[in-house]
Amino acid sequence: MKKITTREELIKLYLDFFKSKDHKIIPSSSLIPSNDPTVLFTTAGMHPLVPYLIGQKHPLGKRLANVQKCIRTGDIDEVGDEIHHTFFEMLGNWSLGDYWKKEAIKYSFEFLTKNLEIPKKEISITCFKGDKNAQQDNESSKIWEKLGIEKSKIKFLGKENNWWGPAGKIGPCGPDTEMFINDVEIWNDVFMQYNKNIDGKYEELKQKNVDTGMGVERTLAIINGFKDNYLTTTWQPIIKQIEKISKRKYNEHKKEMRIIADHLKAATFILAENIEPKNVEQGYVLRRLIRRAIRYGKLIMIQNNFTNEIAQIVIEMYPDYKELKQNKDFILREIEKEENRFREGLTSGLKYFNKISKGKKNLSGKDAFLLFQSYGFPIEITEELAKEIKIKIDMKGYEKEASKHQELSRTASAGKFKSGLADNSERTTQLHTATHLLNEALKHVLKDENIKQRGSNITPERLRFDFNFSRKLTEEEIQKIEDLVNAKIQQGLEVKREETSLKKAIDSGAQAEFGAKYPEKVSVYSIGEFSKEICTGPHVKNTKEIGHFKITKEESSSAGVRRIKATID
Ligand code: SER
Repeated sequence: MKKITTREELIKLYLDFFKSKDHKIIPSSSLIPSNDPTVLFTTAGMHPLVPYLIGQKHPLGKRLANVQKCIRTGDIDEVGDEIHHTFFEMLGNWSLGDYWKKEAIKYSFEFLTKNLEIPKKEISITCFKGDKNAQQDNESSKIWEKLGIEKSKIKFLGKENNWWGPAGKIGPCGPDTEMFINDVEIWNDVFMQYNKNIDGKYEELKQKNVDTGMGVERTLAIINGFKDNYLTTTWQPIIKQIEKISKRKYNEHKKEMRIIADHLKAATFILAENIEPKNVEQGYVLRRLIRRAIRYGKLIMIQNNFTNEIAQIVIEMYPDYKELKQNKDFILREIEKEENRFREGLTSGLKYFNKISKGKKNLSGKDAFLLFQSYGFPIEITEELAKEIKIKIDMKGYEKEASKHQELSRTASAGKFKSGLADNSERTTQLHTATHLLNEALKHVLKDENIKQRGSNITPERLRFDFNFSRKLTEEEIQKIEDLVNAKIQQGLEVKREETSLKKAIDSGAQAEFGAKYPEKVSVYSIGEFSKEICTGPHVKNTKEIGHFKITKEESSSAGVRRIKATID
């Protein structure tokens, strides 16, 4: 196999290969999906591309490829073994209604056998077996056979294995064909030919897409002959540092060190998105990751604060993600703060847990909640502690207690731990356009041209908009902003979309999110003469469609950044 040891070499090899096949390389998107209310993190390279998979035209064309940073929270409990990670990078190539199974499989085969030099005999394949909704995928298996994969190496499996998506409840999905090297999955080619609609029916998509995904860490392990992903260069600098800090050996404490390395790498990347540890949503996942890493640190006898040191190593390991360096101070400060907060209650919390669980079969919801409220134990940590000594927690009682105290930590985020799709409903579309109006209105009313978007999140209930501004807004200002947005809605301004180069867009004064990465070609939405922004949409056609705009909250988001929540009725 090809001698490649670093992620940089692998990523370059992959992107160069797809460039040579006429693909355009798009940047890695943010880990926080901007217009997807059903999910907390970007879980796959296809995620930011959903609007284009369901028919919107991509400014860079029909053949795309990239490396995407991803977080999968569904795997948190599995981390500790050889192959699971919360944070990982995914290589992907896409055909948006362009090439189909034959070319996609040929590209995969060529890259595996020629570029990665994997012997053909070590490759095995799975294809979709078929069910009442879709037929057996003989087309793919025939292509593999033609390329020289023996029939005995191709298996047909059901939907649990060979079907991908939709990422949430609705959206593009289809059968996939997976490639295995010595029984480890290396790559997945998804043929998105269906759209699952709200009634659970599979409709044929007008545009047939290819969506592929190959994990960087896992691929590096495979071509280096490691069964354990943590032996690759994407993990070793962190593992070595943990060995140094704990004065213990990886070989004797694999599970603990893998959890610490994984969780703190993921936490560093989440912090780089300007997220702080909190009791809800992404901030809660961040809190869980940091606190669980600290508990495992305690298990291998790490006495002093150490998360900050690990975060520094992560920042150095990934120089191509500029957000890590740019937010270095914030990352290091916040991780340290969270460690101090948790350490305060950790030892006494563990003592308390031992006391209340001794000789018992169950832990009451009240006690579990007390461990959270007074000692800072996320319920998942208490669940893990309970599992280790085989006692059960009254989870219903816990939820009751938590909602009584309005601590929405778990309930608020639970539904969102799974991945999901952009919800392009009428309401989110209206709120999306209202967000552009708000962005512009802020500059006018606060008389500050330097105001820029620092984050945006839209659910069917509300919009949330973060922007740089140094102080609290007055009630009068809030009223003026609201009035200006409503005036623009009532003027019935037309919303227009055009495609242009990033440079032209910026030169023409189109607004861009601070720190966001954009491709070379972008779409720009203008609302009358009032607003012009680089954006992927979706938007209403005329502002009249929006309805009445109302600001419900104005608060601080982080240092120098304010947050507005607003609804429409
Ligand atoms: N979406 C598919 C996956 O996550 C292929 O990219 O595996």
